[in-house]
Amino acid sequence: MDKLLITGGIPLSGEIRISGAKNAALPILAATLLAETSSYVNNVPHLQDVTTMMNLLGRMGVELIVDEKLNIQADSNRVHTFAAPYELVKTMRASVLVLGPLLARFGEAHVSLPGGCAIGSRPVNLHIQGLTAMGADIQVENGYISAKAKRLHGAKIFMDLVTVTGTENLMMAATLAEGTTILENAAREPEVIDLAKCLISMGAKIEGVGSDTLHIEGVEKLSGTHYSILPDRIETGTYLVAAAMTGGHIKLKDTDPSLLDAVLQKLTEIGAYITTGDSWIELDMRGQRPQAVDIYTSPYPAFPTDMQAQFTALNSIADGVATITETVFENRFMHALELQRMGAKIRLEGNMAIIKGVPRLQAAPVMATDLRASASLVLAGLVADGDTVIERIYHIDRGYERIEEKLSQLGAKIRRIRY
Ligand code: EPZ
Repeated sequence: MDKLLITGGIPLSGEIRISGAKNAALPILAATLLAETSSYVNNVPHLQDVTTMMNLLGRMGVELIVDEKLNIQADSNRVHTFAAPYELVKTMRASVLVLGPLLARFGEAHVSLPGGCAIGSRPVNLHIQGLTAMGADIQVENGYISAKAKRLHGAKIFMDLVTVTGTENLMMAATLAEGTTILENAAREPEVIDLAKCLISMGAKIEGVGSDTLHIEGVEKLSGTHYSILPDRIETGTYLVAAAMTGGHIKLKDTDPSLLDAVLQKLTEIGAYITTGDSWIELDMRGQRPQAVDIYTSPYPAFPTDMQAQFTALNSIADGVATITETVFENRFMHALELQRMGAKIRLEGNMAIIKGVPRLQAAPVMATDLRASASLVLAGLVADGDTVIERIYHIDRGYERIEEKLSQLGAKIRRIRY
């Protein structure tokens, strides 16, 4: 079990490249199941979750050719198995994204129910309700979703909650359904838009992209495409917070500032000087301590829940008192318990954290519990007095490409300890 060892107190400086977005790569790789000819997907991040998705597709019979830059060619014409087994789904909930494409293209799917995780129960009832409305016969038994459909048909679906993968699953299923599907209260995250653009490049007919109502007119078949994944806005935000916390000055390349307006607004409020271009963001916080800032998470375009843990770490060392309200997941403050062990003054009251900033955190052995929580512990280690050791960093490897290499490029003193 690898660990990360971080020596705190060094202001970050320099520039790094941002990778492709994990949460766009996963649905777009699943979407290759829909196409009758090969697809080529570029700018895919080197992440454990991507490896898991490729393992899952490969076991179904998708032929994958991958080059050294992780450009992926996928051909789903010899798919022989329409199943996503528990042993893979339990390591990556996003495996549920094969459900819609399998049903739409092959009329059959046998997908393990993705269990809950550290941040919440993570049900998929809205995925199932939508596919049922489209004519699928779905049984949920023995921990599996078993679904069949001669051919899905269009439906008007109102999703009770804004669900990112729920919107993605139903949008993918609707591309090959007979007739028109209307998805109301659809998610508007940039990764949902990227998937929609990819599906349209395959021949799908989708209107309302970027809005909360999607109109999808089913077609007979989809063709393979060449598609490049958009930059990862959460990786971008995480490194910006790292620079802000350490009083540094960094430049991020191959990113897109328009993907994270709410985050950039909050970084400006804490006192950061930010300049941007079409594909870069520069943040200068030299000689400054962050001002405390209140955060309220909500679906896009509001402040993203995936940046909440990072701002909990920032507020832990900021000047002042702040509240952080988590409205998307029911248990997404696990990182607060570990930050408290580093000296953070955090009080939890239901879905709110009240944080009184302290001048310095103390290094401590801490444990990662989920992807973004582990990122917040890395950020805390960058500013803590002494050497912080973070255990269970497999959580980090799921969502951050070569994190110790990128942070080292920015001057951090960080190394991976292999056990
Ligand atoms: C996606 O998860 C992301 N994962 C998450 O990122 C992200 O935190 C989340 O969206 C919110 O932005 C991927 O895209 C692979 P939801 P998803 O369905 O789709 C409830 C990361 O760090 N809900 O939008 O699983 C659900 O419980 C990960 O990269 C239902 O009740 O999240 C939650 O409270 C973590 N029934 C809320 O909706 C359903 O059928 C939003 O969940 C579906 C969702």
